[in-house]
Amino acid sequence: MARKQDDRTRLPGLDEVPVGVTGRPKRDFDEPPVLPGHGPARIISLCNQKGGVGKTTTTINLGAALAGYGRRVLAIDFDPQGALSAGLGVPTHDVTTIYDLLLSGSVNPSDAIQKTSVHNLDIIPANIDLSAAEVHLVNEVAREQILARVLRKVSGDYDVILIDCQPSLGILTVNALTASHGVLIPLECEFFALRGVALLIETIDKVRDRLNPAIELDGILATMFDSRTLHSREVLERVVDAFGDSVLETVIGRTVKFPDASVAGIPITEFAPEHAAAKAYKQAARELIQRGAVA
Ligand SMILES: Nc1ncnc2c1ncn2[C@@H]1O[C@H](COP(=O)(O)OP(=O)(O)O)[C@@H](O)[C@H]1O
Ligand SMILES: [Mg+2]
Repeated sequence: MARKQDDRTRLPGLDEVPVGVTGRPKRDFDEPPVLPGHGPARIISLCNQKGGVGKTTTTINLGAALAGYGRRVLAIDFDPQGALSAGLGVPTHDVTTIYDLLLSGSVNPSDAIQKTSVHNLDIIPANIDLSAAEVHLVNEVAREQILARVLRKVSGDYDVILIDCQPSLGILTVNALTASHGVLIPLECEFFALRGVALLIETIDKVRDRLNPAIELDGILATMFDSRTLHSREVLERVVDAFGDSVLETVIGRTVKFPDASVAGIPITEFAPEHAAAKAYKQAARELIQRGAVA
């Protein structure tokens, strides 16, 4: 134990300190403590206006991993494409969705919550109706705060609420950021990954300035990393140069297991629990708990 402390104070690259994939000293993330009770939830938006970077995959698998550590997790599908709902295998038609909750304050959020196949992981689904929300919300009073008001009603029952944002910085995403304590930005390890991140950070800063002073950047999660390519390693290096310690040490590798698990409608942590990618999301969950982003 004492030796571990020692290692942390040594400079990276010197001695025999193992270096993690992000180029910083490798750390272990402890098994999270059992929570004495539940709630109120910390709310985290999974946000990046670029599509296909792993927002939905991260919401599903981080959510399942946190649930596996005994955290009560509510996932919010906040993308009209409904990929989160599909990925967790819940129906999206003839059910109450997040759109109904945004539109009417008299709909009870607990009517919209569905259980998933994963114990401790619930979801509020979405479908294409949500694409009309932008238009409907434009004329609402305090239109940026509508999701926050909805989530306040259920926050007490959960330890963490994960909002799977749509790939845009429109009114829905601003609602998500306004409702959130933190933001987690998934970044795909490819050449144009950093494009647009400045605009995203600017949007978060504006929301902090005008709507939600407490919002924090919880981290940047590198996804679809391919250790065999120099390209992936270079991109990761550039991301760490730009964002330093905001970049989680945990990196999610590229694997076809994710599309396979999506088709099956279950998280990879259940579909292939021994797969490296399942282990990576469990590590991301432990890292976020250790960082204090999740109880
Ligand atoms: N680590 C990964 N390795 C390989 N494919 C992945 C990985 N993460 C996500 N995918 C796949 O990439 C596609 C986009 O991911 P998704 O999570 O839907 O992104 P977003 O929600 O940001 O649009 C999906 O088909 C998903 O299965
Ligand atoms: Mg998505």
